[in-house]
Amino acid sequence: MTTISRRDMIRSGLALSASSLLVRTAWGRAAALLEAYPEVASAEALAAVAPREQLLFDFEWKFQFGHATDPTRDLGFGNGQGDFAKTGDFEFAKAKFDDSKWRSLNLPHDWAVELPFVHDDVQASHGYKPIGRRYPETSVGWYRRAFDVPASDLGRRIAVEFDGAFRSVLVFVNGCFIGRNDNGYTPFRFDLTDFLNYGGKNYIALRVDASFGDGWFYEGAGIYRHVWLTKTDALHLGKWESTVRAEVKGNIATLNLATVVENEGGKAESAKVSWKILDASGKTVATAETALLSVPVDGAATFSASTKLNDPALWSVDTPNLYSAIVTVESAGKIRDAERVSFGVRTVAFDADKGFFLNGKPVKIQGTCNHQDHAGVGSALPDRLQWYRLSVLREMGCNAVRTSHNMPTPEWVEACNRMGLMMMCETRQMSSSPEGLEQLEVMVKRYRNSPAIILWSIGNEEWQLQNDMAEEGAKIAASMVRRAHELDPTRVVSAAVNGSNEKGVSEALDIIGFNYNLNFPDDYHRKNPTRPVFGSETASAVSTRGVYSTDPLRNTLSAFDTNQPGWGETAETWWKFYATREWEAGGFAWTGFDYRGEPTPYGWPSINSQFGIVDMCGFPKDTFYYYKAWWGKEPVLHLFPHWNFEGKEGEMIPVWVHANLDEVELFLNGESQGKQKVAPLSHVEWKVKYEPGVIEARGSKGGNVVLTEKRETTGPTVAIRLAADRTEIGADGEDVAIVRVEAVDKDGRPVPTASNLIGFKVSGDGTLIGVGNGDPNCQESDKDAKRSLFNGLAQVILQSTRHPGEIHFEAVKEGWFGPELTPAKLIITTRKTEPRPSVK
Ligand code: GAL
Repeated sequence: MTTISRRDMIRSGLALSASSLLVRTAWGRAAALLEAYPEVASAEALAAVAPREQLLFDFEWKFQFGHATDPTRDLGFGNGQGDFAKTGDFEFAKAKFDDSKWRSLNLPHDWAVELPFVHDDVQASHGYKPIGRRYPETSVGWYRRAFDVPASDLGRRIAVEFDGAFRSVLVFVNGCFIGRNDNGYTPFRFDLTDFLNYGGKNYIALRVDASFGDGWFYEGAGIYRHVWLTKTDALHLGKWESTVRAEVKGNIATLNLATVVENEGGKAESAKVSWKILDASGKTVATAETALLSVPVDGAATFSASTKLNDPALWSVDTPNLYSAIVTVESAGKIRDAERVSFGVRTVAFDADKGFFLNGKPVKIQGTCNHQDHAGVGSALPDRLQWYRLSVLREMGCNAVRTSHNMPTPEWVEACNRMGLMMMCETRQMSSSPEGLEQLEVMVKRYRNSPAIILWSIGNEEWQLQNDMAEEGAKIAASMVRRAHELDPTRVVSAAVNGSNEKGVSEALDIIGFNYNLNFPDDYHRKNPTRPVFGSETASAVSTRGVYSTDPLRNTLSAFDTNQPGWGETAETWWKFYATREWEAGGFAWTGFDYRGEPTPYGWPSINSQFGIVDMCGFPKDTFYYYKAWWGKEPVLHLFPHWNFEGKEGEMIPVWVHANLDEVELFLNGESQGKQKVAPLSHVEWKVKYEPGVIEARGSKGGNVVLTEKRETTGPTVAIRLAADRTEIGADGEDVAIVRVEAVDKDGRPVPTASNLIGFKVSGDGTLIGVGNGDPNCQESDKDAKRSLFNGLAQVILQSTRHPGEIHFEAVKEGWFGPELTPAKLIITTRKTEPRPSVK
C-alpha cells in the first residue's frame, strides 16, 4: 500500500498541502471516471436508427414572459373570446407574428433559476423564487420557433416529443392548438403530421405555465429537458413498446423480445420484425425474427420472439456491461422503421432474511436520494452534468440512487446504466386516477429496459393514504402495483413510507420501504418475517461544507456529523443500523446533493437545503468521507476540520477522522495527541487546544502506518487556481467543462476559509452558463459572470458552441474590496465533433 506523506511530497518538489492533496485526489478520480465515459450521447439519440429520424429540437428558440392573469400581457391569450373556439386562429404560431424582440436561447432552459430571490416564506420550499399564482409576471413563459419540413417528408409521421417540461404546456403549430400536458416530469408527444407545411416554414409556439407546482422542493420553470422532432414511416414501432427481458439460467441468457407495430397508413400491411443483438463492442451476438403478421389500418400488432446469449457479460455495479437490440420492422422487402434499445443482462432479488442480491451475490444498497437541480443551471442540466453528478456520488461508494420524487431525466438513467449505479425510480403522483396511472405507465414503459433500475416506487410519504384514508390507500396502491407488474413483470414495486408500514399503501407493496424512524423496522421484521425491507429514505443529516460550528445567526451547521432534524438520523446512526442487519437490503440517504428549496432548519436567507453529503456544486462535505470509508473499497483517512482558526488560540477544537483503518494517531505540531482505535462504522475524535501550525493524522493497519494526512494553517489568499474536469470537450453546443475555482496562499495551499469575490471572463468558442459556490445562504445570481468563493471554492460551468476552437477563461479579483489576487487563466479546447442531428 502506498503512503503519501507530506514530507515525501515536499521532497519531490510537490509542495501541496494535505488538504489540497486530498481534495484533488477525489476530484482527479471523479474526473477519471468521467473520462471513462466520454460519450455525452443521450438515450433518445441512441434510439434512432434509419430510416427513422430523431432530430434534436433544442437550438435557437425565442423566449418571452407571458402573464398568468392579464391577457394583454400574454399575447392576448385568454381574452375571454373563446380562445380554443376555431382551429387555425392562433396568430402567435404563424409566420406574421413578430418575435424579433424576444430573447434568443437554447434548451434545456429553466427560467426560475434566472429570477432573483424573494423574501416570501410561502416560497421557501421552492427556493424563494417568484413562481406561483401570486407571481403572474414571472410564472408563464412563451417559447417560439420557426422550423423547416422538407417536401420529401410528406407521407411520414412527424411528432414533437418533450422529455419533460415545467409545467402545464400548451402546444400550438401553424396557428392550430395541438394539445396540452399538465405535469412537470413525464415525457409527452404530439403527432403533427396533418398540421405541417411540407417544403416550407412551420411555426411552433409553446405556452408554459409554472403557476401550479407538483412538489414541495425546487422544481424550476420552462422547457428544462430536451425536445425532439421524430420522423417515421406510417408503419412504425410503437413508442416505448420494445422490450428485451433476459432470463438467466447457468451461463445462458434467454432474451424474450417483444414489440408493437402500429399502422397509420391507408392500407393493411403484412410485416415482420427482426432483432439484432449487439454486444458493447458493436458485434452481433444473436438474432431473432418473427413470421409475417398483418397490421390492420389504424391498428397495431404485437410481435415477439426469443433468442439466446451464451456466457452473457452480466450488468453489475462493477461491470456495467450493456447490450443493444436493433429492432427492425420490414414490409414487402423494405425496412420501414427501426430503433435501438439498450439493455443489460442481470438478475435482482430481494430476500426477507438476506437482503438484496445482484446476479446471485449479496449487495447492500448504499444509496442516496437526489432531486434534479444543480448550481448555476437549476433544473436545466446539460447531459454531461448528469454524468458528473453521478461520478461524484460513485466516488464516495454510493452504488444506488433514488430519483425522488419524480420520474428522472433520460440522461440520468442512461448514465446510471453506463456507470453501474442502481436505481429506485419513482413516480410523482401516488394515485390510481387516470392522471396518476398515466404518469406511472409512462415511467415504466420509458425505462423498463434499463438494467440500472432495480425497483419502481409508486410514491413518497402519502400520510393520508397510510392513516385516515388507509382503505383507499391500499386500493390505490394495489391498482398501481398491478399496472406496474403488467407493464414490467420483472421488477418489484415499493414506495417510500413514513410510519409503521402496517396498513394502507404498504399492504399492496412487494417490498417495504421505511423513511426514517429506526424504531419501526425491527418490529416490522419480527411481525412480517416474509416481507423484504429496505430504507427508502434515511438520514436527512444537515451540514454546511467547510463550517465547523453551528451558528443560527449565520444559518450554518457544523460539518461534524452531529446535526439532524427531529425525524432524521446522522450518517453514522442510520448506516450502523442498516449495515448490521442482514435482512435490511440497505437504504437511500437523504440526500446525495444539496438542492434548492427546503432550507432546513433555517429559513431565509438560506435558499437551499443542507441535507446533501455534497453541496450544490458537488464539492464534498466531510461526511462524504464517512460514507467513502464504509461504502468504498479503498483505505480512507480523512482529517478535519481545517487548521485556520485565527483568534481561537488556546481554545479546545474538536478534531475528527473518518477512516476504515485499525488505529489513528493524531499530532499537533509534531506532538502526539494520542492514538485511537477505529471501531467499525464509526469515526474517531479528539479535542485539541488550538495553536497555528500543522495537525497530522497517521492511520495504521496491521501495525503499519498506511495513510497520513495533514491540515496546515495557511497564509492569506494571494492567487486563484483553476482546474477543469476536462480541458477538451466536444464542439456540439451541448458539452460542458466544469471548472473548479480555488483560493490559494503564497505557497499554493488552498485557503479553506476564503470568501473573495471573483469575476470571470469568457471569450472564444464557449459561453458561461452558470456559477455556484455551494453556500446555502448565498443569494448571488447563478448567471452573472462573478461569484464569491465559499470556504475557498466556487464552480463555473462553461459550454461549447458548435464552432470548434478554444474557450478562453479567466478568473480575476472582482470589486474594490480585499487584497489583490493573482488572476488565473484556463483554455478549454473544443474539438470538432459530429453534433447530434438537429432541427433546422
Ligand atoms: C422527507 C421527504 C423529503 C424531504 C425530507 C427532508 O420526509 O420525503 O422530500 O422533505 O423529508 O428531511
